[in-house]
This record gives sequence, structure tokens and C-alpha cells, in this order.
Amino acid sequence: MKVTVVGAGAVGASCAEYIAIKDFASEVVLLDIKEGYAEGKAMDLMQTASLNGFDTKITGVTNDYSKTAGSDICVITSGIPRKPGMTREELIGINAGIVKTVATSLVEQSPNTILIVVSNPMDTMTYLAHKSINLPKNKIIGMGGALDSARFKYRLAEALKAPISDVDGMVIGGHSDTGMVPLTSHATRNSIKVSEFLSEDRLNQVKEDTKVGGATLTKLLGTSAWYAPGAAVSALVQAIACDQKKIFPCSTYLEGEYGLNDICIGVPVILGRNGIEEIVDIPLSNAEKEHMQSSAEGVRKTNGLLDL
Ligand code: 2OP
Repeated sequence: MKVTVVGAGAVGASCAEYIAIKDFASEVVLLDIKEGYAEGKAMDLMQTASLNGFDTKITGVTNDYSKTAGSDICVITSGIPRKPGMTREELIGINAGIVKTVATSLVEQSPNTILIVVSNPMDTMTYLAHKSINLPKNKIIGMGGALDSARFKYRLAEALKAPISDVDGMVIGGHSDTGMVPLTSHATRNSIKVSEFLSEDRLNQVKEDTKVGGATLTKLLGTSAWYAPGAAVSALVQAIACDQKKIFPCSTYLEGEYGLNDICIGVPVILGRNGIEEIVDIPLSNAEKEHMQSSAEGVRKTNGLLDL
């Protein structure tokens, strides 16, 4: 199993590290445009192998896509991260050109790969990839909902004063500060609806804290987060590589599902060796349906800025 991660910045390197530590891939190629940067990160990570107990081989390359040839899975993290006060959508001017070039170069070397898009604004970058490269829609996956759901579970556990291992929850919709749809109606604490433990006001606070989870960290860190984004991507890569048939909310191209067409936005999908094996249709409350529609309007507005 060969995985390529483009972008050896904090998110890409964290993703490569988590993939290696889980030890399900034979090789991870880490690629960056900055001379020697990916090589240095890869060597540093390989020097943890004996300490962290993995045999995965991490190789760093500077902008040489021939070294990515035959990748089963490719991850695009390249592009600029946001600064405090910025929205993800403001990154489109620079990141769209990067994502289109990178996606094209990856698929030229690995025509059968499964592509995971992380770069922001992620839903629009996933849509751009769908419109730019010749991969079937089940092989183009946007990572946002897995990260947002992890933050949702963190906030739920905090409110419940419960271990995160007892909490389950999912966030669908756009990966944006206003477009996320945390599904409080489905969230549980060990199979018990969280509404049995938390008031509507407290649940609304959990939803709001989840939506700005990324912005909260960007304000604290001065740049975008990387540990949880990297871990979220590695979970998707593992589900695909190991054919786990796990459900994650992922940005994918919709053709009528959830009443939406010609858009990439976060919905529950089953991930396996073929990428998106199935889009899962789940019941939504009227409020959640309305939020999903308004979220899609926001994503379409950003898509409209693309030069397709
Ligand atoms: C985040 O929410 C980088 O979009 C990513 O942290």
C-alpha cells in the first residue's frame, strides 16, 4: 500500500506520522515544493521508527511527482493555511491554482489512485478536483467532516463530563465556520441520546463551539491546527487502505442525494478499498435539513469564485 502526501507542512507531516505509526502502509511519499523540506521531515520521522515501532517507509521528495507513481491513495494538504481572523474561503485565490496543479500531477502518475483533498476551502477544492481530473466521483474525497466530528465529540464530552470513548456524533455540511451541521439529534453517550443529559441551550453552545473549532485554534496558534486534521486524514486513509467499510462524513460530489446536485459537501459515506462505497441517507430534523440547504448555498457561493 503506497500513500502519497503532498505538502510537508504541519498537517501533511502529522498525517504521514499517524499513517506510519498505524503501520498499515508499506510506503508513504511526502512531497513538498520547498527544497529539502520533505526530505528532512521524512528523515526525522523515520528516526522515530524504532521508537514508535513502525516499519512503514517514509520518503521525502522535492517536487518530483515521478516518485509518487503508483500511489494507491494520494492526499493533498498543500496550500496556505489561514491566519487568525481569516475564513477558509479567503484562501481560494492562492489554493485553487495549487490544488488543480497538484491533483493533475498526482493523477498523471497514479491514474487509479484515490484522492483525498484537505486544502481549504476544502469543499470547493474537492469540487475543483472533481471538475479538473479524470477520476470517478467515488475516488475524490474531501476531508473536513471527520475533523469537525472529532471536535464535536470533544465538545460533547466536555459538556457531558464523560470520556470521549463514550460519545458519538457526526458533523455534516460544509467545512466552514457557518456551514457545519452538527447532528445533535443523532449524538449519543453510549447509545443514549445526549438530549437526555444536556439542555437545548447547552447543546446549542456545543454546536457553536464545534463550528468555530478551527478558528478557535487558529486564534490560539496563529495558524491553522494540524494534529487533529492530520489524525482525521489518517483515519480516512486507513479506512480505505484496510477496506474497513467505516462511516465518515466526507465531502463528495452529490447528484441528488440530500436534495443537492453538482456540489461537493459533507455527507455520511461508507469508506472502503474503492473509496466512497456508498453515500448513506440518514433522517434529518427539519432544522438540520434547512441548515444543510443553507450550508450548500454557502459552498456554491465559494464554488462560484472558481475559474472553471
Ligand atoms: C481546520 O478546521 C485546517 O480546516 C482545518 O483546522
